[in-house]
Amino acid sequence: MASTKEYDQAASDMRRPGTEQADGNLDARELVRHATLAASSHNTQPWKFRTRKDAITILPDFSRRCPVVDPDDSHLFKSLGCAAENLVHAAAAQGFSSEVRFDSGKNGIDVLLTRDATARATDLYRAIPKRQCVRAAYDGSPIGVMELAQLEQAGKGPSVRTIMLSSDAEKNAVIDYVTRGNIAQLTDRAFRKELVAWLRFNPVEAMRKGDGLAGRTGGQPALPTWLAKLMIGLVLTPQGQARTDATNIRSSAGVAVFVSSRDDKPAWVELGRAYERFALQATALDIRTAFINQPIEVRELRSQFESWLKLEGEHALLMVRFGHGPTAPFSLRRPIDDVITVDWVAG
Ligand SMILES: Cc1cc2nc3c(=O)[nH]c(=O)nc-3n(C[C@H](O)[C@H](O)[C@H](O)COP(=O)(O)O)c2cc1C
Repeated sequence: MASTKEYDQAASDMRRPGTEQADGNLDARELVRHATLAASSHNTQPWKFRTRKDAITILPDFSRRCPVVDPDDSHLFKSLGCAAENLVHAAAAQGFSSEVRFDSGKNGIDVLLTRDATARATDLYRAIPKRQCVRAAYDGSPIGVMELAQLEQAGKGPSVRTIMLSSDAEKNAVIDYVTRGNIAQLTDRAFRKELVAWLRFNPVEAMRKGDGLAGRTGGQPALPTWLAKLMIGLVLTPQGQARTDATNIRSSAGVAVFVSSRDDKPAWVELGRAYERFALQATALDIRTAFINQPIEVRELRSQFESWLKLEGEHALLMVRFGHGPTAPFSLRRPIDDVITVDWVAG
């Protein structure tokens, strides 16, 4: 029977520090290991990696889609963007610069690698094994102006920017939208069924599957799966979740909304990259982040939320809260061999 100790050891082994050898010898497995440490919706890890001598292609694994919360697969493609961003930083640590291109024919992302004597390990690369979503309350302290500017810069892309909200009035408005989102989602049987299918109630189940939302990361006690499934109806209530989220948002220094001028697959990938960069920058600054996407996931709420943000021609596609606070136990990943195809013939 796996214990929490074994769980934590497995999570830590996956996050062992990587090579910082910019000698031009490409270690593709190391690149993929770093890519898989990225965030993904419900920790579905909806990716496959095809590695070649000078390129890695990240392809969607549609068997891992979440049709209820993510009917257009936008979260899925954002998750691929998160993985691509990690890959770029890991490639730099090995002495390669990257060009990231969405290929609509393949429905995937090509990361083209070129030997670059100036490429090297950065603070964002070193943050990859430490980045995590921390869903606990933070300590309420503000973030310095310089750090806020660094976060905002990290969240920028050609068609992506972040809107930073930090006043009490703004937080209260966000709480209102998140509450309405929680009520819409947690009173929807299909949403609950899909969410519960990705919950991992004890270390044994979490380690067997290597994916999903482990109770350990949120500090929940380990329970036998059959018992947890009986109890979940009592524990996971719209009002309870709304209360927790309100407390957590109030405890945060601020909220960042990621907006894009487009709403298609290349834009979702770009936005995922921007979020991951933001989260790596936050990690490097010892700042925690956690998603609060309910007003974006609930379609009827999204347009109201976008009007409140006074967006014109832009789309709100992700939202996180950030602040100073504790760390949490880490989430798990599936083995690299489950997600990698090695193809040395240039294609
Ligand atoms: C596109 C996307 C959407 C996400 N949405 C949520 C969300 O609504 N609520 C939440 O708590 N976490 C959300 N997450 C975070 C994932 O659950 C998290 O990345 C995953 O469980 C792995 O954990 P880690 O990020 O700590 O490594 C999202 C992640 C991504 C990439």
